[in-house]
Amino acid sequence: MHKRLTILGLESSCDDTAAAVVRHDEGAPAEILSSQVFGQIDLHADFGGVVPEIAARAHAEKLDHVVEDALRVAGVTLQDIDAIAVTAGPGLIGGVLSGVMCAKGLAAGAGLPLIGVNHLAGHALTPRLTDQLEFPYLMLLVSGGHCQFLIAHSATEFQRLGGTIDDAPGEAFDKVAKLLALPQPGGPNVEQAALSGDATRFKLPRPLLDREGCDMSFSGLKTAVLRERDKLIAAQGGLYQQDQNDLSASFQVAVADVLTEKTRRALAQYMAQSPTRPAIAVAGGVAANKTIRAALTGLAQAENVSFIAPPLALCTDNAAMIAWVGIERFRLNLIDDMTLAARPRWPLDMTAPAMLGSGKRGAKA
Ligand code: KG4
Ligand code: ZN
Repeated sequence: MHKRLTILGLESSCDDTAAAVVRHDEGAPAEILSSQVFGQIDLHADFGGVVPEIAARAHAEKLDHVVEDALRVAGVTLQDIDAIAVTAGPGLIGGVLSGVMCAKGLAAGAGLPLIGVNHLAGHALTPRLTDQLEFPYLMLLVSGGHCQFLIAHSATEFQRLGGTIDDAPGEAFDKVAKLLALPQPGGPNVEQAALSGDATRFKLPRPLLDREGCDMSFSGLKTAVLRERDKLIAAQGGLYQQDQNDLSASFQVAVADVLTEKTRRALAQYMAQSPTRPAIAVAGGVAANKTIRAALTGLAQAENVSFIAPPLALCTDNAAMIAWVGIERFRLNLIDDMTLAARPRWPLDMTAPAMLGSGKRGAKA
């Protein structure tokens, strides 16, 4: 039954309105028939961060259109769809609600099953969509709102080994961009500036490396960049482009060092619990960073484990990952009904103690 599944996915938990159609024949690689993303960067540009009310309105206005686009590009109609999957949390509640309401309307109108998806599961299961990775594996989820190490045991069972106790790295990239007067989103712009920078010019801290385990902290690193910037401004009356580039490069390599060392420890923790060597997979917007990818690739080679990093467009927020979780859940018979609730907070590992911190991207998990 249902050997072939075609699922429409919807994502609207932060500042991207996205819809995608993914098809999967059992035992074969999945096919992304379409993946439409409407980003809201321009709408929030004047505010230095995502404004939840503006985001929610934009999602409500755009969702119908991205759904139409996703169906058209995929060359299918709702009659070809087996179920509607939608991000039901965690995230900015106005946006999540817009998506859930839209999905309920589509499911009710077309008589299709509805599947609520955890956004973090979307990121964490992406390596199965792109690389058919088998469970269990070690996952580093690293984005604007989240940073955690997970063992993915199954499509529904995730064990959190550690995570950030304050900012997520993407948030730190965004804040560093702001204080260096680089445009948002910070990640790609800091990465671009760092290309012409000297990563050894500033000695920035590597927070929490002195603490055992794989918890992380990025807020002190951002403050250290602020201090170096202010010293330069006091000494020379302003910031030269070379200073921006060198600070960007020094910050980026510090983030890469922390992520790499903590990944090494997460791997050790994994292997202390289970004698097998897992594949390491990474996902989330920060996984698009080439310096960080290269550092993690080097670690995986040194540790003799395989390293899976999805293509950049599937690292940042998208709806193909939501459709994919829909496929995994459909195959497990995990279907929701019209009582599906939108949740601002929704940890993947319900048994792990809550992490500290909360950033501009809204509720954490
Ligand atoms: O996964 P994502 O699209 O949204 C969240 O769920 O947060 O991640 C967005 C975050 C932003 O903070 C952005 O600055 C960061 O990912 N990012 C990057 C890069 N591209 C995006 N950070 C570092 N380097 C990049 N190339
Ligand atoms: Zn995300």
